[in-house]
Amino acid sequence: MRKRLIAGNWKLNGNWALCEQFVDAFASLPAASLEAIKQQADVVICPTAVYLSRFDALIQSTSSILQLGAQDVSTESQGAYTGEIAASMLAESGAGFGIAGHSERRHRFAETDQQVVQKMQNLFAANVLPIVCVGEPIEQREAGSAESFIEAQLLPIATAVAEHGLAERPMAIAYEPIWAVGTGKSATPEQAQSMHAFIRSVMARFMDADSLRIIYGGSVTPENATALMAMADIDGALIGGASLDPEQFVALASV
Ligand code: 13P
Repeated sequence: MRKRLIAGNWKLNGNWALCEQFVDAFASLPAASLEAIKQQADVVICPTAVYLSRFDALIQSTSSILQLGAQDVSTESQGAYTGEIAASMLAESGAGFGIAGHSERRHRFAETDQQVVQKMQNLFAANVLPIVCVGEPIEQREAGSAESFIEAQLLPIATAVAEHGLAERPMAIAYEPIWAVGTGKSATPEQAQSMHAFIRSVMARFMDADSLRIIYGGSVTPENATALMAMADIDGALIGGASLDPEQFVALASV
């Protein structure tokens, strides 16, 4: 049985007041609801890195069920790399999870597969659970080559996991079709399930993929989340827009 992973990616949004609102929103739930959420899911917020330490202190002092993740990580671990943040620093700041290879990093910042793999390895080395993202552009989906595109993104990830003895370590894959990110046009539960099952079959060539969490991202809302998460291979969600609203995020964590 895979524990669900519900992660909010705030991207370049939010501020300290929003961090406090999220802690308050969960704290105001009845104890039984909080316990039910905690049993079924890891509920993670990925704010910009500057808020991690303070957010973590607030979470600890209020015994919140929230956990923290980083949106990105450096390919380097130390040295003359102005502006970069190492995985060990994110871990020290309270991040238990770290996103690598989000489509916005791959496309807007021209990140390569090789860099994504390095980021994943750095997260593993710092004991930060990697959430590695894959997702096809609309052209591949329309051309019927979405699976081969995703397989090509997965192979460097899976190969590195196998070659570096990481196959037993917990990680997650996020399937975020680019055409569904921020568009309001989510994949259908059937489209997402079909790709998740394919991702599991590819990863199973390199590891025991039964325990691998594969989460869906792309215009997830409280309205479509129930049907998506009812699918056999959808183990949670990576949420952008709807994760900025405490009420909606609480609803998503409670699905
Ligand atoms: P939206 O939920 O806003 O489509 O964003 C998805 C995403 O990119 C999460 O990482």
